[in-house]
Amino acid sequence: MSHLAAAVTIRPMMLADLDRVTAIAQSLKEAPQWPRGAYVAMLDPEGRPRRIVLVAETTGSGVVAFVVASLIPPQAELETITVAAESQRHGLARQLYSALVSELKNSHVTEVQLEVRASNQPALALYRSLGLQQTGCRPRYYAEPEEDALLLQVSID
Ligand SMILES: CC(C)(COP(=O)(O)OP(=O)(O)OC[C@H]1O[C@@H](n2cnc3c(N)ncnc32)[C@H](O)[C@@H]1OP(=O)(O)O)[C@@H](O)C(=O)NCCC(=O)NCCS
Repeated sequence: MSHLAAAVTIRPMMLADLDRVTAIAQSLKEAPQWPRGAYVAMLDPEGRPRRIVLVAETTGSGVVAFVVASLIPPQAELETITVAAESQRHGLARQLYSALVSELKNSHVTEVQLEVRASNQPALALYRSLGLQQTGCRPRYYAEPEEDALLLQVSID
């Protein structure tokens, strides 16, 4: 485990995190560019579908990564894992995913699915290292730039 990963706390995202979270997303072209209101809605415990939204925080840098998943048990959709550029390749995405899966299992989820841009090689490498396998392709699913979406899934039961 790297020095950074040893000092990481993973906890639910809070409204107070949103300035930092949206700044991280805006700094990464591969990250989802959701408006602040979308995050506010995700954090609403009464919102549907229910979401699990976690951040990774380090003692030195504060919030440096986050994960969002929507739940329709027994399935969940991993909507994003995003790690600030300066904190990548320290195992944070792997740690966030592990924490997410623990919560998903507690919520009776047995299968995780996601869509990813076909060109997003870091994300594809991450997902494959986590055991996800490609199950399909949606041609020209993404815009700006137009690109195929690869569909991946993994059983977590
Ligand atoms: C994809 C992303 C989340 C990975 O986060 P990370 O914290 O750097 O990933 P980790 O350090 O946990 O890496 C775990 C494994 O994933 C793979 N991986 C991650 N980044 C990689 C890269 N740039 N190149 C190749 N493999 C990579 C490796 O197998 C790695 O294990 P290793 O370091 O032992 O070789 C990060 O690059 C990111 O935030 N990208 C921009 C946003 C994005 O594309 N999110 C996903 C789609 S919404």
